[in-house]
Amino acid sequence: MLGRFSLLLKAQPFFDGREIDMNILMLVGSLRAGSWTAQLTRSLTDLVPAGTTSRVHTGLGDLPHYDQDLDTDQPPASVAAFRAAVEAADALVVATPEYNGSLPGVLKNAIDWASRPRGASAIADKPVAVLSVSPSPRGAQWAREDAERILRVAGAVPLEQSVGVPSVHAAVVDGFFADFRVEKALGELMQSLVDAASAPAVPHAA
Ligand code: FNR
Repeated sequence: MLGRFSLLLKAQPFFDGREIDMNILMLVGSLRAGSWTAQLTRSLTDLVPAGTTSRVHTGLGDLPHYDQDLDTDQPPASVAAFRAAVEAADALVVATPEYNGSLPGVLKNAIDWASRPRGASAIADKPVAVLSVSPSPRGAQWAREDAERILRVAGAVPLEQSVGVPSVHAAVVDGFFADFRVEKALGELMQSLVDAASAPAVPHAA
């Protein structure tokens, strides 16, 4: 019943039929198999325009703790693969739960790896849609705000708007959106991300 209801909602056109050749990489801050954040993030793939490739990077748990001694010309293979995936992406989605009032260490660690080498990092100037997810009513607001700030310091370009999804267990059921307001907000977020990644790059001031 819910699924059918939600499938009807999926027919809502968030995009105007444009075909867009774009590669969106999604980073999820929870490693657990039943993660709400991961479920919701996977559902975002239904909200991107035709032609867009979007996938969740599954290797964040394989990254070692950031260590400048490991950050050489030949970093660990998991780091090289992660940086290559970020580099190849036109835009990123960062989806975070909240742990003790901030983002989980696994996500901060991934952002730290992506932020180096300084001046030539994979994440530099990358548009990022940030969303936070929580079973609680606050929608992991602190984690979202911290993620935006950290991404900005790392050289990425978080969108002006971000989305917090409170009470996630009621918003997504069996991989389907059960709350149209959440689906609409996330659809608009993805549209803004595609627009930002399609915009011509603004050259840095000398
Ligand atoms: C939490 N949780 C939590 N939730 C929240 O809204 N604010 C918080 O500060 C915390 N802190 C916190 C710390 C730790 C160590 C854990 C394990 C959990 C609850 C958290 O939101 C909940 O477990 C989510 O389900 C985690 O996200 P995933 O794994 O479902 O994506």
